Amino acid sequence: MIVFLNLAVISFCYLMKQTSLNEFLEFLNKQTAKSFKTNAVHNYLATHAIDHEEFLPYTFFREETYGRNLVAKNEFFELLVLTWLPEQRTAIHDHADQRCWMLMELGSLTFKNYEAVGPITEGKQFSLTPTGKAETLKAGTNTVYIDDGIGLHSIANASRKPAISVHLYASPIPRCRIYNESLKNFSWVDLEYFTFSGNTWTETIQQLQ
Ligand SMILES: [Fe+2]
Repeated sequence: MIVFLNLAVISFCYLMKQTSLNEFLEFLNKQTAKSFKTNAVHNYLATHAIDHEEFLPYTFFREETYGRNLVAKNEFFELLVLTWLPEQRTAIHDHADQRCWMLMELGSLTFKNYEAVGPITEGKQFSLTPTGKAETLKAGTNTVYIDDGIGLHSIANASRKPAISVHLYASPIPRCRIYNESLKNFSWVDLEYFTFSGNTWTETIQQLQ
């Protein structure tokens, strides 16, 4: 069963099939732009549990900001492991008209949703209205879903321990708009990977040489 709350949390069924990352990727690689817009992913995540250990080869923490570690990608989706040291957080951001599902793997993260008053224009001043209270989710409890129809959001590790989350975007999101809370305006930012398929960029470049 899928339940859309403020955070659009997908409730887990009591009968979850344990599955591997490879099986999950096989499922994702069968999807098309069209099927990613259906409930196919919702239904899969509501009935399958992926072993946490499967994501460890893609788990790299970053000192200066939260880490975006690419697991796999094609033209229709990208799957990332995001790592969060204590107090690391995102800016308030949109999702570039794409869909986003998130699995909590370790620790806890705090989500806060916002609504922009009127259509977003870069450089123009905006006031954002918080929608609902900030919600903190722990590992192993829920899957979160968000898209631009639901709103903007920020994610923060407000705990004193590291956190790990897995994010599925359909389609890939190479850039998104972030909100500058001091200037009260939006700007586009390019989104980078900290590591690529379990390799740091240095290792990837060495393998290509
Ligand atoms: Fe997000």
